[in-house]
Amino acid sequence: MRDSRETKVNTAFVAGYPIRHSRSPLIHGHWLRTHGLDGAYLRQEITPADFAPFIAGLKRGESSFVGGNVTIPHKEQALLLADHPDELSRELGAANTLWLEEGRLLATNTDGYGFVSNLDQRAPEWDQGATALVLGAGGASRAVVQALRDRGFRDIRLVNRTVSRARELADRFGASVEPLGFEDLEDAMDGANLFVNTTSLGMEGAAAPELDFSGLAADAIVTDIVYVPLETPFLQQARSQGRATVDGLGMLLHQAVPGFEKWFGVRPEVTDALRQMVIDDMAEHA
Ligand code: ATR
Repeated sequence: MRDSRETKVNTAFVAGYPIRHSRSPLIHGHWLRTHGLDGAYLRQEITPADFAPFIAGLKRGESSFVGGNVTIPHKEQALLLADHPDELSRELGAANTLWLEEGRLLATNTDGYGFVSNLDQRAPEWDQGATALVLGAGGASRAVVQALRDRGFRDIRLVNRTVSRARELADRFGASVEPLGFEDLEDAMDGANLFVNTTSLGMEGAAAPELDFSGLAADAIVTDIVYVPLETPFLQQARSQGRATVDGLGMLLHQAVPGFEKWFGVRPEVTDALRQMVIDDMAEHA
């Protein structure tokens, strides 16, 4: 006899405000098609005032959702409203992936996973050194710093325009993180094995200063979590100075993997075809 659960279509959401620019439906839609799954992944525009009632309804099983992603501005609230946020998301103070398990709402944050998985795929030796320079100390920087620390980077030089924000992050993540101001940027490059931009400098045509990457270790990798444009000014500068670079699009693609597996039961892959599809979409909606 067929159980009613067998015919239920799993449905996940991405909740944000605004939400129309999210590329997550494109990514999850591609995986649903590739795996021949009868599921759905839907955009939900939820205002800050409506977010708590939305989560309450989800927990009570009133919506058809099995879980979903949350994005700006709901990541902090999602953490607070979940029944069981994992240790990773609690340390970050923000969750981006939610799923129901036996009536409880679980939460994690997959941004750091996305960041390291992108580098693992595109520059497999990236974590051989112990020294990283992270530019920026905002929300996006937190997940990067946490992931680098957890990967064994023992010397994380955190450079930020507002040094007090870098200090606050260093306090959160411990002794391996050293807070610095922009005036220390050149010195902080010295011997670093990895350079990560997490600021909005160079995003979508915004100006970016000229950087001299010559102080980095010989085999250093330069990466940017900004992916519009795909080759940011920092990546372009680094490449023209002979540095190996990795763009940030893979972070977006990889951070989606754990959620898809939770909601739909299959671990999807980040392929060249998926990457190209998102690049084509970016060109179409530039
Ligand atoms: P996100 O969640 O994307 O990290 P955020 O929390 O607003 O966004 O952080 C933006 C980061 O970019 C910060 O590190 C910010 O530096 P400040 O903390 O000094 O504001 C950095 N940033 C943004 N514009 C910048 C600029 N023109 N010059 C230098 N840093 C800039």
